[in-house]
Amino acid sequence: MEKQIALIKGDGIGPEIVDEAVKVLDKIAEKYGHTFHYTRVLMGGESIDATGVPLTDEALETALHSDAVLLGSVGGPKWDNMPGHLRPEKGLLAIRKGLNLFANLRPAVLYDELKAACPLRDEIIGDGFDMVVVRELTGGLYFGARETVEENGMMVAKDTLTYSEAEIRRIAIKGFEIARKRRKRVTSVDKANVLDSSRLWRKVVHEVAADYPDVELIDMLVDNCAMQLVKDPKQFDVILTENMFGDILSDEASMVTGSIGMLSSASLNETKFGLYEPSHGSAPDIAGQNKANPIATILSAAMMLRYSFDMDKEADDIENAIKAVLKQGYRTGDIMSEGNQLVGCKEMGDAIVANL
Ligand code: IPM
Ligand code: MG
Repeated sequence: MEKQIALIKGDGIGPEIVDEAVKVLDKIAEKYGHTFHYTRVLMGGESIDATGVPLTDEALETALHSDAVLLGSVGGPKWDNMPGHLRPEKGLLAIRKGLNLFANLRPAVLYDELKAACPLRDEIIGDGFDMVVVRELTGGLYFGARETVEENGMMVAKDTLTYSEAEIRRIAIKGFEIARKRRKRVTSVDKANVLDSSRLWRKVVHEVAADYPDVELIDMLVDNCAMQLVKDPKQFDVILTENMFGDILSDEASMVTGSIGMLSSASLNETKFGLYEPSHGSAPDIAGQNKANPIATILSAAMMLRYSFDMDKEADDIENAIKAVLKQGYRTGDIMSEGNQLVGCKEMGDAIVANL
């Protein structure tokens, strides 16, 4: 197969981790007879530096005309003092919205080999856990009207949280469809004891659930969910939730699996098109030092093969190579534990390629 991939390296550790993912993709192309064409697209800080804005219309257009987008990470202290609409993160939000990527899937799996990196006690870990956060990505607080104004001589800041039935329904359907291919349990997370948007969320999720009698639905308040994730993470299969709750809970879910450096993500629209990125940030403190963990990005590339290109065998191959590398004892700093071998970002990429 021949595929066009838009590559957004971004800021901080972005370029290093994307380079390793490309190495892995090139190896897969060679092994399975595919051709991957890469087009560089600028976004975030690198785009601000080059063009003055975090995402140009041309960049969005290029992404739109590719088969999928692979992204590193954006942001960094250099651009922290830019006004809101010119921050690197705005580029990420603009591409999510511009490509209508309303469904964000973030699988959090505890690998056997990484149990030592998990901060939870052995009796909680048991034989590990495997969940996926299905996060609504183009609505809610992230995209509602916001302003900072002066009222009665005092500054007042406002952000609005809006959800329509249609927005809730399409993400709920995704959640249930995914659950059907897994352990058939959806935990829908909201704050229905306080928020109107959550009460509507709960109502629509229950309507959708009626079409999936084979899938169990559990409602959970977000504060309780934050607690349950560390108390008993095994209970979760699919966590279905709105944008902001999903942002927070997916970081937590990743940490109980040992490191956010392992957490991949796929952002999908109604078609096969998707944007694939690690769930972690640009880690400016370790950028350019060959210390970053490229695994989340490489797993994101595997998700791209699976969801956008229907290359299941190739995706399995990458996931197995990662398991093999962990078994061989290679560790980047974030997942390092005694008795293993500390390697850099490049060496981790090479080790994965060697196992393909
Ligand atoms: C994420 C990130 C982004 C988000 C930031 C960088 C805007 O934290 O993808 O989880 O909040 O969605
Ligand atoms: Mg986040």
